[in-house]
Amino acid sequence: MKIRLDKFLADMGYGTRSEIKKETAKGSVTVNGTVVKRPETKIDTDKDAVCFKGEPAAYIQYEYFMLNKPAGVVSATLDSRETTVLELIKDSRRDGLFPVGRLDKDTEGLLLITNNGELAHHLLSPKRHVDKVYFVRVRGQVTKDDEERFAKGLDIGDEKKTLPADLRILNCGEISEAEIIIREGRFHQVKRMFSAVGKEVLYLKRLSMGALKLDERLAPGQYRRLTEEEVEKLC
Ligand code: URA
Repeated sequence: MKIRLDKFLADMGYGTRSEIKKETAKGSVTVNGTVVKRPETKIDTDKDAVCFKGEPAAYIQYEYFMLNKPAGVVSATLDSRETTVLELIKDSRRDGLFPVGRLDKDTEGLLLITNNGELAHHLLSPKRHVDKVYFVRVRGQVTKDDEERFAKGLDIGDEKKTLPADLRILNCGEISEAEIIIREGRFHQVKRMFSAVGKEVLYLKRLSMGALKLDERLAPGQYRRLTEEEVEKLC
């Protein structure tokens, strides 16, 4: 990507455009080893090696974080009363981060946070039917009949039935546990699907979204950057 030198450095948090202009004029910036004093100089972010005060400055266009969302925080960018998932991400370099899709306040698990709008659109597009896998604990016995009803699609009070969902019973008792794969992202979808078969969801955790799997080493509230391989798989 071609970009002005001052924008490159401002985007990466080295100062405001005017501070960077002053530093550039002082000779604090080199491009491929040569001092560059004109802030409007165009840089190729893939090829040119920029140094600011002797430190290499890599350009990061997009950032990708995997958060194990804890219960009690909201999947929003701003909220006047509640803690948002963005407040948990402490070391981002770029503005404009947002969560890809929403988890309810009491839901835990995988949440992708990025500033890549195109990728978010791709993952959330209703036409793409990206698989989302959840672990769920419900009150009551989950039965084979429930599995069949989920597999046919359920009436949850919307205009259309849900798409078929895969339900896999893990434990059956007064409190049952299961894994469910859904391919849409309707409001409170998992809770409403269980409600349609007469069961209350007590605990819900997202385990994966498309190719991206929650890193189980992350405790609720912890996050890490995606690896290059994870980003490639998603994109
Ligand atoms: N389905 C729900 O009911 N809640 C979530 O947070 C995600 C999916």
